[in-house]
Amino acid sequence: MDKLRITGGQRLHGEVTISGAKNAALPILCASLLSGDTLELDNVPELNDIQTTLRLLRQLGVSVTNGKQGHVSLNANNVTSLEAPYDLVKTMRASILVLGPLLTRFGEARVSLPGGCAIGQRPVDQHIKGLEALGADIRIEHGYVIAKATRLRGTTVRPDMVTVTGTENLMMAAVLAEGRTIIENAACEPEVVDLANLLNKMGAQVQGQGSSRIVIDGVDSLSGASHRVIADRIEAGTFLCAVGAAGGDITLRHTAPDTMGAILEKIEQTGVQIECGPDWIQARMDQRPVACSFRTQEYPGFPTDMQAQLMALNTVAEGTAVIVENIFENRFMHVLELGRMGADIDIDGATAVVQGVTHLSGATVMATDLRASASLVIAGLAAQGTTTVERIYHLDRGYEHMENKLSQLGAQIERVAGSTP
Ligand code: UD1
Repeated sequence: MDKLRITGGQRLHGEVTISGAKNAALPILCASLLSGDTLELDNVPELNDIQTTLRLLRQLGVSVTNGKQGHVSLNANNVTSLEAPYDLVKTMRASILVLGPLLTRFGEARVSLPGGCAIGQRPVDQHIKGLEALGADIRIEHGYVIAKATRLRGTTVRPDMVTVTGTENLMMAAVLAEGRTIIENAACEPEVVDLANLLNKMGAQVQGQGSSRIVIDGVDSLSGASHRVIADRIEAGTFLCAVGAAGGDITLRHTAPDTMGAILEKIEQTGVQIECGPDWIQARMDQRPVACSFRTQEYPGFPTDMQAQLMALNTVAEGTAVIVENIFENRFMHVLELGRMGADIDIDGATAVVQGVTHLSGATVMATDLRASASLVIAGLAAQGTTTVERIYHLDRGYEHMENKLSQLGAQIERVAGSTP
């Protein structure tokens, strides 16, 4: 298993280009199943989760051409299987996103239940409940969701909680359903909006994306389309936390600052000076960070996917930060590892209290999930001495060439190859 070795204490300086958003690209790739025509995508990040999705789509019979610089072309006119098997789904929960498209276009789908994962139980009951409301007949057998329907029928669905992939699955199912579907309590995340925009380019009739009420008028078929995936707001936020913790002066290119309101606001509160243009962000940090309390919420609130990184920044801040995780019940896995580097953090249920320390000291730490890994890298950049982050395959699931981008900013960071997991 590869590791990252970081020698902390270097200020970051220079420019990096932000990649396409993983969480927008995943549902968009699955949307290729909705049409027999070709989907041409740009700005698809090179990540392990994307490779897993492409492997799954190929297994279903989708022809996939992986071009240069994030270009991916997909054609699903010859789908040969309607089953997403356990060995692929277990490595990536987002595989559940093939359920809606397969069911609505082919009238049938068999998708393995994802099971638990490191950051919590994460059930898919809301996906199932919503599809049932649209008229699907669903049973769970041998660990698989088996769904059937002659043609889905539009109705009003109201998931019990705001769910991002749940909203996306229902939206994709509804675009080919008969009549009007209304999704109440819908997720407003920019990635949901990007998917809706892509679906509309394919000929779907989706309105209200970005609000909590999405209205979809079903159509008989969809065509091909070209689309550029939006910028990854979490990757951009991660670099901003890195400069906040290590100090320096960086510019992020190809970003979408308009999708990052809560992230920018909180990072600015720590003392990072931020300036934005339409697709760039400049960030400068010349002081010790100031502690900043926050709670994770659905968009437009502060994202759970940035909680670990902003916590890492708080570990070296002046003062005390109170951090409340509202979305996932077990998302403080990074706390023990940060503690091994000298961070002072107490957890009580969903609340972490971070008392800033003047310095962290490098240590060998273990990544436990994607964003936890990013927080350990940030801590390593700020720490005195050398930090080795083990099990960085988590990081490779969601960050494109992170160590290259950080090296470009002057960080002392290298990948040390290890044996296969
Ligand atoms: C998506 C993101 C993930 C992010 C999360 C929250 C993708 C591929 N992943 O995950 O990076 O951390 O949103 O912003 O876009 N829930 C249920 N039943 C369901 C569905 C969800 O109980 O059927 C619960 C979950 O356990 C969680 C909460 O609802 O507590 C929100 O989860 P959800 O928004 O669905 O997360 P994902 O879509 O899996």
